Amino acid sequence: MSQTTPTEDKKPGTTSHNIFARVYELLNSGLAESNFMVPLRREMVGKAHGLVLEIGAGTGLNFSFYQPGQVERVEAIEPDTAMLRYARERMNTAQVPITLTQAVVEALPFADGTFDSAVATLVFCSVNDPVRGFHEIMRVLKPGGTLLLVEHVRSQGAIAARVQDALAPVTKLLAGNCHWNRDTAYTVAEVGFQVTFKRNIHSQLMPMILLEANRS
Ligand SMILES: C[S@@+](CC[C@H](N)C(=O)[O-])C[C@H]1O[C@@H](n2cnc3c(N)ncnc32)[C@H](O)[C@@H]1O
Repeated sequence: MSQTTPTEDKKPGTTSHNIFARVYELLNSGLAESNFMVPLRREMVGKAHGLVLEIGAGTGLNFSFYQPGQVERVEAIEPDTAMLRYARERMNTAQVPITLTQAVVEALPFADGTFDSAVATLVFCSVNDPVRGFHEIMRVLKPGGTLLLVEHVRSQGAIAARVQDALAPVTKLLAGNCHWNRDTAYTVAEVGFQVTFKRNIHSQLMPMILLEANRS
């Protein structure tokens, strides 16, 4: 059902976070993934349709949630060589065709107006230039195409947000460039997406959003 691109030449922005990828894979075999993240992945990834772009596929944990009959094909991109190794192993969990390419969201190797849906889960905390990334997603989505996000974001509480600001340099260093304090919903709207659905999952230090938005 799936295929990898034949060559993975070093491209600008690509990384190799070997230790983080190993720790991430280990953590995701635990209860936080199965009890908390799996229902969120099922809900949001399950909304994808047609030709789908997945951004920052990581270790491939979303692959099994694409619905056959609803999704024609998934073009998954991931910049990190270590993550890609796990993602490649997980391609056989998919029920739809998936192509995996080493690339960054800030420079998507796809033509304008290609995709019906774009999916990103826990990605935009790590992206170097989120504004440029969202502009690129808007470029490659068809008019009316849908952006589907699950992201952890900046706390609404002033004190908790300050704690996030203080800890962000540490998470950037130790957790694959994770900026723990980003207001991703604000950036999505700022770039010009029409937000059609947003659900907040409240938590002091790790609030999350589920967000659906359209390219106008
Ligand atoms: C915390 S992991 C999440 C992986 C996966 N989406 C998931 O839900 O498990 C963050 C991922 O974003 C990727 N990433 C970081 N910067 C990126 C960029 N500029 N473009 C695309 N993906 C990026 C990382 O390599 C990493 O695999």
